Amino acid sequence: MPITLLAIETSCDETAAAVLRDGRLLADVLVSQQAHAAHGGVVPELASREHLRHIIPVVQQAMAQAQVSWADLSAVAFTQGPGLIGSLMVGAAFAKTVACCLDIPLVAVHHTKAHVHAHFLGVNQPKFPFLCLTVAGGHTQLMMVRDYLHMDTLGKTLDDAAGEAFDKTARLLGLPYPGGPYIDQWARKGNPEAFVFPKPQVPDLNFSFSGLKTAVLYFLQEQQASHPQFVQNRLADLCASLEKTIVDLLLEKLERAAHQTGIQELAIAGGVAANTRLRQEGAALAQRNGWRFFIPPLRYCTDNAAVIASLAYHKLRAGFTADASVVPLAQLSD
Ligand code: KG4
Ligand code: ZN
Repeated sequence: MPITLLAIETSCDETAAAVLRDGRLLADVLVSQQAHAAHGGVVPELASREHLRHIIPVVQQAMAQAQVSWADLSAVAFTQGPGLIGSLMVGAAFAKTVACCLDIPLVAVHHTKAHVHAHFLGVNQPKFPFLCLTVAGGHTQLMMVRDYLHMDTLGKTLDDAAGEAFDKTARLLGLPYPGGPYIDQWARKGNPEAFVFPKPQVPDLNFSFSGLKTAVLYFLQEQQASHPQFVQNRLADLCASLEKTIVDLLLEKLERAAHQTGIQELAIAGGVAANTRLRQEGAALAQRNGWRFFIPPLRYCTDNAAVIASLAYHKLRAGFTADASVVPLAQLSD
């Protein structure tokens, strides 16, 4: 009997469902909630309501795309956390109901560990153990990946995530939300050395980004006092310099982790893995040191249910299932 698994992801502002059969992806459907753009960030209450609206059509579409019926399902998986609690509850309630009605196993998945599985869905896969830097709007985490299930956190952000650093500074520059892709676009036309922003010195392999936002705010206020058009006139240089600061902070820690562990396989995941400079400088860093650098297909970098399905498949095979008492958790330890 093949293992046919339905996976649900609802941790933030994407409602997603995927179907995986024996490790092969049959369907991968996603609705990216547009309702938040006008608010300059994800509004938790709005996200829960949007998940409620989308979950059934998204699952139906995934099952139609995979050409499977309810009777074909051997397990159902969902994101247990970390994430927005109201959003997680929608996915958890849905998955529990399916498991209960069909009397099939339920698998609870850790969202940030699932991000790493973006590397197991494409053709070019790193070898174990490898280092994975997961950089997204909600998380920034450096992990040593020992196998499909076992990952040790070497460092994480102490405050804002890298994606938030992009989004919050973009907002100060008057760019739309989410600002990361806009900073990336403008940065291509600017000089990354034009301005120097302070880099918080955090010991060990942890990260900190909240100071950058404050530094940029004061810097802009100071410049605009004498040049009201400062941001408009220097937008490309500002974006390029900000992008360089964030990417340098990320790659400095990745490089240090590689030296400390001796691991020569480096990988990135999460929405910020789309960033042009991070991709280019990460590849250059690896090349200088004779290491390998992996960037997964972009559609698996941002939140999606395919990576939830992949981790769930390996958990299921190892016998890690949940019972009906499992609850979603906004904070879920690694
Ligand atoms: O993985 P993701 O979709 O959501 C979370 O799980 O948090 O990541 C979204 C984040 C946003 O902060 C967005 O600004 C950032 O990824 N992002 C980028 C780029 N594309 C997306 N940041 C910098 N450069 C990009 N090209
Ligand atoms: Zn995520």
